[in-house]
Amino acid sequence: MLDLHCHILPGVDDGAHDLRDSLAMARAAVGEGCRAVFATSHLWEGLFATSPELLREEFPGVVEAIAREEIPLQVFPGAENYYAGGDPERFAERAVPLGEVARYVLVDFSLGDPPGDIPEMIEAFTRSGRVPVIAHPERNRRLQADPTPIARWIEAGAVIQVNASSLVGLLGDSAKTCAEYLLGTGAAHLLGSDAHDLNRRPFCLGRARERAAELVGEEESWRMTREKPWKIARGETIETTAPSLEPRSGARRLFRRILDRDP
Ligand SMILES: [Fe+2]
Repeated sequence: MLDLHCHILPGVDDGAHDLRDSLAMARAAVGEGCRAVFATSHLWEGLFATSPELLREEFPGVVEAIAREEIPLQVFPGAENYYAGGDPERFAERAVPLGEVARYVLVDFSLGDPPGDIPEMIEAFTRSGRVPVIAHPERNRRLQADPTPIARWIEAGAVIQVNASSLVGLLGDSAKTCAEYLLGTGAAHLLGSDAHDLNRRPFCLGRARERAAELVGEEESWRMTREKPWKIARGETIETTAPSLEPRSGARRLFRRILDRDP
């Protein structure tokens, strides 16, 4: 598998504290069945003192240490770019992409109210041939109640990444229910760990892939964790279709129907 979302760079955000943590996380990623990860530290002005320059400086150190320890894990550069709203053009200009091919960009936003101009932000990327990957919308309280905007974002050209930890229940019932709904309706395209450490926010991608297989089938579960993340690394197109989503009560009914179909 290729994990497109984790906080493995040491000492830059709330992920790995030091190189020892980074190496322990690298071993854990391999243990979960990952051959590669994108290092996606937070770029979140005001909360973390990270910058594109700092991430570029820190990146080679972790790659060298992993090679020195002979851990069979490839690490690609990246970032989790926080969008606060208000200036989509400037945001798209400055955002740090996933990997060297730089076609995909991992984006997150507030867990409370999503910015109102997310469609404009998506357009700012698609105009220049890039694709925003929306990180963990299932964690957002508004979207848990009404996930319908996600369908519009997919239509506008975004792809959707759900957290492995949400799907296995480590981030609470609401995130889990919403994650299951997004997978069940085809609104989730990718699973990423969003691992920050070994305990509180671990990789758990293997376990989540198995849970995903129960919801979307074995083949699609591998596409979400292997085939599509590698497409991101190579800059290839991920095909999407905007699903039909319903607000929470309707969402529950629809999800119930999906579950009822399962043996
Ligand atoms: Fe993250």
